[in-house]
Amino acid sequence: MLAVTNLTKSFVSPEGGLVQIVHVPAFSLGAGEQVALRGESGSGKTTFLNLIAGILTADGGTVTIDGTEMTALSESKRDRLRAAKLGYIFQTFNLLQGYTVLENVVLGMSFGPHGADRAHAREVLERVGLSHRLDHFPNQLSTGQQQRVAVARALANRPRLVLADEPTGYLDRQHGREALALIREVCREQNAALLLVSHDEEVLGQFETRKDFAGLNEALKEVRP
Ligand SMILES: Nc1ncnc2c1ncn2[C@@H]1O[C@H](COP(=O)(O)OP(=O)(O)OP(=O)(O)O)[C@@H](O)[C@H]1O
Ligand SMILES: [Mg+2]
Repeated sequence: MLAVTNLTKSFVSPEGGLVQIVHVPAFSLGAGEQVALRGESGSGKTTFLNLIAGILTADGGTVTIDGTEMTALSESKRDRLRAAKLGYIFQTFNLLQGYTVLENVVLGMSFGPHGADRAHAREVLERVGLSHRLDHFPNQLSTGQQQRVAVARALANRPRLVLADEPTGYLDRQHGREALALIREVCREQNAALLLVSHDEEVLGQFETRKDFAGLNEALKEVRP
């Protein structure tokens, strides 16, 4: 489902030097597999997910999603592949401020393989506990509620691969547990692969060890409960 080889990304530091943030020799994920990566703040988690999603361009290496090499595509084809296959729960949500909760989810679906399906969008929003907030705008929601909209929007498209960036970072323990359980349940139902990144031990502790990582960033570690 996902294969990463020799992926590298550097940024220019304020001093003008290059700092390598991501160096992933090999990483893969099978259909339906659920994996969490542990990494401290600043270790490159978001950068790694943005490279996989094709939002950032890698300096070198390949990302292949469901048989298509994302890194070889033009920007517009990358956008289409992302819409067709990926559900990305952004760390900072990226909700459209001028649209209601329901519209945010429906709009997300309109670029996806199943089209805008308001009934399904409502259903998913109900599952994240927001059926009473459908007509609110993002700035009328608590931060945790906005995070749950982001979860619903990512799952509503029935993606093949879900990327989850600290998906419970703004939720209290109870809502965090529920949101994580929902994400994992929906992925299982749809045989979607899940790649979650976090520094939260409560979240990481719920994932099982995987022994076959060929290698990751020094700073990015697979979870070992
Ligand atoms: N556009 C950029 N230009 C320069 N440096 C960047 C840029 N984006 C990220 N970085 C640097 O890359 C490093 C990794 O950032 P990233 O956002 O991937 O970390 P993270 O693991 O997601 O952290 P957090 O847990 O705090 O979200 C940081 O040191 C950051 O300063
Ligand atoms: Mg981050």
